[in-house]
Amino acid sequence: MAFKNIPPSLVALLLQGAAFLLVSALVPLTGLAISLPILVLLCGLLAAFFSHLAGLARWWLVIQLGFVPGLLGMLMLNIPPAYYLCAFLCLVLVYWSTFRTQVPLYLSSKQVWHALQGLMPPAEFSFIDLGSGLGGVLTHLASARPDGHYSGIESAPLPLWLSWLRIKFGGYRNCKVYWGSIWDQSLCNLANYDVVYAYLSPVPMARLWHKARAEMRPGTLFISSTFEVPEQQPQLKIEVTDLHHSTLLVWRM
Ligand SMILES: C[S@@+](CC[C@H](N)C(=O)[O-])C[C@H]1O[C@@H](n2cnc3c(N)ncnc32)[C@H](O)[C@@H]1O
Repeated sequence: MAFKNIPPSLVALLLQGAAFLLVSALVPLTGLAISLPILVLLCGLLAAFFSHLAGLARWWLVIQLGFVPGLLGMLMLNIPPAYYLCAFLCLVLVYWSTFRTQVPLYLSSKQVWHALQGLMPPAEFSFIDLGSGLGGVLTHLASARPDGHYSGIESAPLPLWLSWLRIKFGGYRNCKVYWGSIWDQSLCNLANYDVVYAYLSPVPMARLWHKARAEMRPGTLFISSTFEVPEQQPQLKIEVTDLHHSTLLVWRM
């Protein structure tokens, strides 16, 4: 990709701006009377084309194509601005720093919870879910294996609050969730855990492997759901029969 160190969302926004400026400049120059729907379509086409040239992933091209036409469509619906503000705030609270981390919220399936349960050590152990989302993995394991101690770290506020409520009102005394980043060494030292679980995205896996190798104790388990670590073959692969065809990749450190 041409803009390697810039988050794709920012690149997409910049390219939208470039397409918009180009269309706004071209129309007076050509002197043609072009209707508004054609103009917004032109903006979308140009933004998608620029994004293709910039090497953005294919699904970004669809977003780029539909963005300005979508804006026009929404404006025509005459929805009061407060609704947009509310929707925006909700999305911010759920997705928080996804534009930077490129790890959005999606949840491990119940089938994954059960497969994880089968991987837990036989006696008392500590477990951490890196990016614990709504806390489903933690609360399931806490019920199934009450001899474990469970921690979760989550950066997005709304999932964090919901998982905190789930743990508090579900009476899970052996579960804790913390607000922060998995990269914050004072909050997340993997040496403290017997089992480390991550369901993130392809983007942080090389960095996470580096952290796991540096911090985890010999004999402990590192489990990634679905996302591979570049150039590192897991010792065990468990294919889970769920909607996403999840695979648990397991390394004994
Ligand atoms: C794919 S979801 C997985 C949720 C949960 N672990 C599960 O399996 O159901 C990934 C979660 O990681 C969180 N996340 C992404 N980057 C993070 C970071 N650097 N530190 C803490 N949480 C992060 C996201 O907000 C999201 O809730």
